[in-house]
Amino acid sequence: MQIQDLEQKSQQGGTQRVDNYHLDELKIALDPNDPRHILPPRLPQAQKVLDVGCGAGQSLIAAYPDRVSFGIDIDLDALKTAKSFSSRIALANAVAEALPFRNHQFDFVFARVALPYTRILTALKEIRRVLKPEGSVWLALHPFQVPWRHARHSNLKGKLWFAYIFLNSLAFHLFQRQFPLKGKQESFQTERGMRRALERCGFTGIRFARGKHFVVTAQVRK
Ligand SMILES: C[S@@+](CC[C@H](N)C(=O)[O-])C[C@H]1O[C@@H](n2cnc3c(N)ncnc32)[C@H](O)[C@@H]1O
Repeated sequence: MQIQDLEQKSQQGGTQRVDNYHLDELKIALDPNDPRHILPPRLPQAQKVLDVGCGAGQSLIAAYPDRVSFGIDIDLDALKTAKSFSSRIALANAVAEALPFRNHQFDFVFARVALPYTRILTALKEIRRVLKPEGSVWLALHPFQVPWRHARHSNLKGKLWFAYIFLNSLAFHLFQRQFPLKGKQESFQTERGMRRALERCGFTGIRFARGKHFVVTAQVRK
């Protein structure tokens, strides 16, 4: 489906409506010149790919249009939008901490800014479980600056939420522990915290990229 068709849908009412947030995210995913654009790498067509916290599936649509791919998300509305964007994504309403797949199914699992909202250690164990022995992972994370930038311009409630994020992130950095607040989870990540978590979950070849985006890649340890 073309972006123009989707824009037309977004201007319609009723069940056909495509929400503007996800449409904008899809445009970013399809536009390599957009400064917010960041996608996982191209892969041979035969590789089976899972997107954890896929939202409306924009990364899968932009990066892997050549195959049927897989996406899970906790947000049912986002998945409904994904379904209207593409019929080539197998979608499941599930959490990263309990992936609805058998062991060793995927060649590649990625999560584009979804891990900051999960219990990271549990999610990484699940990702490791569903990866094939030669599989690899690509994770776009939140550095400190992301929640801080948001908190600086927010009201007292936003600043208190940032205080929670800060303590939760520190607990993960130091002790690999995290705590939910009001049933939700949020943190920013550090290289030390992520390296220790990935090693504990059976990953090796851990590499960080810190340019415009904070990305970590790793392979399953044999
Ligand atoms: C910032 S959005 C990123 C969405 C998409 N990956 C992208 O790059 O645009 C974070 C996504 O993670 C999902 N999410 C949050 N907690 C989750 C969890 N525990 N399990 C699975 N998905 C989760 C949210 O519903 C949301 O779609």
